[in-house]
Amino acid sequence: MEKFNVGGYWLDRPFQTRRLGHFHFFSDRMADAMHFYTNLLGFQVSDSIDMRKRFPPGVELSELDSTLYFARYGGDHHAFVLCSMQMMTARGRQFAPGVTVGQITWQVGSLLEVVRGEEWFQKNKLQILKSGRDTPGSNWHTYTPDPDGHPNELYYGMEQIGWDGLSKPNALHRGFHTPPELPQIAEYQEIEQAVAQGVDIASGNRFREPRSFDFDVDGVRMPRPFRITGIGPVRLFVDDLETSLRFYTQRIGLRVTEEVVWNGHRCIFLRCGTEHHSLALYPTALRAELGLAQRSKCFSFGVRVNDYQQLRNCVAFLEKEGVSIKHLPPELFPGMEYCAFAADPDGHLIQLHAYMEQVGWDGRPRPADQRRKIDNSAWPEALDPSSDNWCGEPFFGPWA
Ligand SMILES: [Fe+2]
Repeated sequence: MEKFNVGGYWLDRPFQTRRLGHFHFFSDRMADAMHFYTNLLGFQVSDSIDMRKRFPPGVELSELDSTLYFARYGGDHHAFVLCSMQMMTARGRQFAPGVTVGQITWQVGSLLEVVRGEEWFQKNKLQILKSGRDTPGSNWHTYTPDPDGHPNELYYGMEQIGWDGLSKPNALHRGFHTPPELPQIAEYQEIEQAVAQGVDIASGNRFREPRSFDFDVDGVRMPRPFRITGIGPVRLFVDDLETSLRFYTQRIGLRVTEEVVWNGHRCIFLRCGTEHHSLALYPTALRAELGLAQRSKCFSFGVRVNDYQQLRNCVAFLEKEGVSIKHLPPELFPGMEYCAFAADPDGHLIQLHAYMEQVGWDGRPRPADQRRKIDNSAWPEALDPSSDNWCGEPFFGPWA
C-alpha cells in the first residue's frame, strides 16, 4: 500500500484526522431552532452571512431565512453551523433523502494535509463538493460526501476568537474557491497587511448574550446553569454499514474502537483521538425500532457540558423551557455514562453528556463489565469519578 510522509510519520493517507471540529444542521424551523441552539443551549453566533446574493435569479425569497449562522462555544470561530433547508434547496443544492446535515468536519494537522487530502480524494474517485478557504472562519478545507450523502470536511486553521469576543472583520477575509498554491502567507502576515492598509481590525462581530446572568454556577454568574465545553460525538444511521465503515476508516482515517450488537443490529464506534468515539454508525433499520423521527439520518449530535452536576442542571433547565427530553438504551452508547437526548424544534436529537471514556496507547476500550451501570430512571445526585474522568482536553478560559 502507498505510504505518505505526514509530518515525518508514514501514514496510509496524506493527512491525520485530529478531532471533530464542527457540525452543521439544516432546519425547517429556523426561528425556533435559533432560539433552541443559542438562547437555550448557549451557542454564540460569531458571524452570519446573508446567502441571497448567491441565489440563482428569480428565486422567491420572502418566506425564507436566507442566513447562514456560524456559532461557537470556545475559541474556534465556529463549532456549530445552522441554516434553513429550504434556503439550501432554493440555492439549487440537492441532498439525498434524510440528509439534514450540512457538514461533519474534521480537523487535520496542516494546510499541506488539506491540499494533499483533496488530491488523494480525487485520485480515489471521491466526489469533491468544494475546496478552498471558508470565510468567515478562515479555515482551509475540502469537502467530500460519505456514502449516504453527508458532506465530510477536512480543515486546517480555524480562526480563534479571544477575550474581546470579536470575529475577524470582513475586510480581513481572504477566501479561496479552489485549492490554494502552497505555501500561503501566514495569518500574522495577513493581519499586518490589513493594518498597513488601514483596516480597523476591531470592527468584527461581537456576540450579544440574550439572557440575563441569573445563575450562580460554581462561583460564576452565568446566563444558564451549565456551559457547553465540547461537541460530539455524531451518530448516523447508514444504509450500508460496511460501505460507510470503509469510507470512515479508509478515507477519513477514523479507527474502530468498539462494536456492539443490540437487538440484532450491529453498531460501530469510531475515534480519531483519545475519545472512545467521535462518530458512531447504526443501521437505518434501528431508527424506527427506537421510535425516532424519520426526517433525518442523523441519530444525534453530541454536546458536552462541563460536569455531571451541569448535565443534571441542563436537563432540568431545558425541560422547564418546554424541550422534550428522552433517554435511550445505554447499550447503544458504550464509552459514555449518563446522557440525555434533547429534541430540537426539527426533531434532531442533541445528546447531552459530561463524560467520554478515554482510549490510550493500546487502543483498547474499558471492558464492558467494568463500566458504570446506568439507570436512567434514577440519576444519582453525584457520582464516584471514573478513572479517566478528567482525562482528555479541558475547556480553556472563563465560562462566560
Ligand atoms: Fe466547515
